[in-house]
Amino acid sequence: MPNPSLIRRHKGLLRHTLDQLLLVDLVRYGVVALRFLWFVKVLGRLRTLSLPGTADAAVADNTISHNLKGLRDLAVNRSHLLVRPLSVIEALPVDARVLSVGPRTEGELMNLAAHGFSWEQISGLDLISYSPKIQLGDMHETKYVDNQFDAVVLGWVLAYSEDPARAAREMIRITRPGGIVAVGVEYSPQSQEQVIAEVGYLPGAKARIGSCEEILGFFGPAVDHVYCSHVVAPQALGSVGALCVIFSVRK
Ligand SMILES: C[S@@+](CC[C@H](N)C(=O)[O-])C[C@H]1O[C@@H](n2cnc3c(N)ncnc32)[C@H](O)[C@@H]1O
Repeated sequence: MPNPSLIRRHKGLLRHTLDQLLLVDLVRYGVVALRFLWFVKVLGRLRTLSLPGTADAAVADNTISHNLKGLRDLAVNRSHLLVRPLSVIEALPVDARVLSVGPRTEGELMNLAAHGFSWEQISGLDLISYSPKIQLGDMHETKYVDNQFDAVVLGWVLAYSEDPARAAREMIRITRPGGIVAVGVEYSPQSQEQVIAEVGYLPGAKARIGSCEEILGFFGPAVDHVYCSHVVAPQALGSVGALCVIFSVRK
């Protein structure tokens, strides 16, 4: 994001100030909760993608059922780990077209707006949606045109793919040359067996992503400049850590 005064000029002082209030986790939670109640409880708009007919083999078992249980995480505080560094990359204009893949709720989208991105240019793609801002779709095979986005954020979604290299190819296709891809995944000290014993099933893909290098490997030669390749230790976040990677796209 360039000079902050450009953001103010682009959005207008009032809108910019209102958006900045969303930086406060509790405020963001409240706004997302009100919209959630409106769209889900009043308008009954909660929908899930019907998987047969799409690239369903690549979607890990239990993905939708597991994430339906997580719909109460409305502020999505961990999205700060990707959104904050993304917001200081000067290659992205104020009105960058940003796609959040797997936002689950509007929390991550509002966090992007809070950090200066234009709300009108932010959208989401998920297997679950209640919001007009989030399109139902599968990251392995989207309906977007080539180079449609300036930035694509994959926040804690790639670990739900049984074929992350395929998802990565699709993300590269829809990101413009020189655009930015930001990926965050869980980094857990628990074995998959321990997770199954605790949760009762495996929430996510059979193979675990174990390093930032592995994430970059999925994107192969499309990785140009790596802005961030960061391991957040589990104790820093509670019980599970994170692997975060942000890079520009070469094609
Ligand atoms: C753990 S949540 C992440 C929510 C938020 N981004 C965060 O960081 O907390 C994973 C989300 O990715 C979505 N998802 C999983 N596989 C997907 C796929 N193939 N295409 C689109 N969305 C997917 C799930 O439905 C869920 O909403």
